[in-house]
Amino acid sequence: MQFPEYRPRRLRRTEALRRMIRETVLRPDDMILPLFAIGGRKVRNPIASMPGHYQLSTDLVADLAAEAWDAGIPAVILFGLPESKDARGTAAYKDDGIVQRAVAAVKAKVPDITVITDVCLCQYTDHGHCGIVDNGQIANDPTLELLAKVALSHAKAGADMVAPSDMMDGRVAAIRYALDESGFSDVPIMAYAAKYCSAFYGPFRQAADSAPQFGDRRTYQMDPANILEALREVELDISEGADIIMVKPALAYLDVICRVRERFDLPLAAYNVSGEYSMIKAGAQLGWLDETRVMMESLTAIKRAGADMILTYFAIEAARALQG
Ligand code: PBG
Repeated sequence: MQFPEYRPRRLRRTEALRRMIRETVLRPDDMILPLFAIGGRKVRNPIASMPGHYQLSTDLVADLAAEAWDAGIPAVILFGLPESKDARGTAAYKDDGIVQRAVAAVKAKVPDITVITDVCLCQYTDHGHCGIVDNGQIANDPTLELLAKVALSHAKAGADMVAPSDMMDGRVAAIRYALDESGFSDVPIMAYAAKYCSAFYGPFRQAADSAPQFGDRRTYQMDPANILEALREVELDISEGADIIMVKPALAYLDVICRVRERFDLPLAAYNVSGEYSMIKAGAQLGWLDETRVMMESLTAIKRAGADMILTYFAIEAARALQG
């Protein structure tokens, strides 16, 4: 063989050349910061499994949303830790519930930031499942009514977007219908469309106190082995009215992100979940990984796979790293 005429290294020689041929560029605009709201004032409980993250009272949620906004992050997604739990998760749809108060606090302090709310019951049910339990089973259709109530109460509180994460069948349609009927036809739905039953959610369940008290979520979240089913799930959510579709988790599912991107043209979100965050933090604490570089490489990979936006606990750190 002749010595190659094409030498890829020619365009890697200097940083300026590398910048010129870079295919994927991460921006603060690509990121959404998840926050955990709890009752009280000036409360800041560290989350042991997620160093750098806290359960925050609504005043501090608003402060951190302001920090994120100042770092160039366009959106936060709010999770709530309610004062009390019951079998039907009624605290999830109270007018003065924790997420409803957090939405109001953020909108009052940072009116222009996009406030997304996670719509689910698992943080609010005493059994920790994402739906109503009937005879040891998670009942799909009776749950839809409650999810619609939750989404509607978030919209009434001022949420700019709702994000159902429960994986019940038909919930996007149920929520769309409820929002439209009550005058919230311009509130978009970000559907956790292909959400897998993943052990990478472990640290989150400690953060949100939402671990199931019996069994697991395999009867509603997807089997990690499946990808064709993910495409069907996404198609279904689009047909029901989803405005943004999501794949979750992200890093072990880059193939799913890529396939969904090829097949569908809706804006695509990927959730860089708690376990993905905690592994990097742990590796860095042990001195085994360069945290900033692994963080940026992971986020860039998620975007390269095809995600338009990334829900990530690294949002502020990454935005600051981008600003140099
Ligand atoms: C609630 C919900 C979960 C996550 C987001 N929304 C947990 C779960 O499904 O058990 C996980 C987020 C993360 O791990 O960062 N249903």
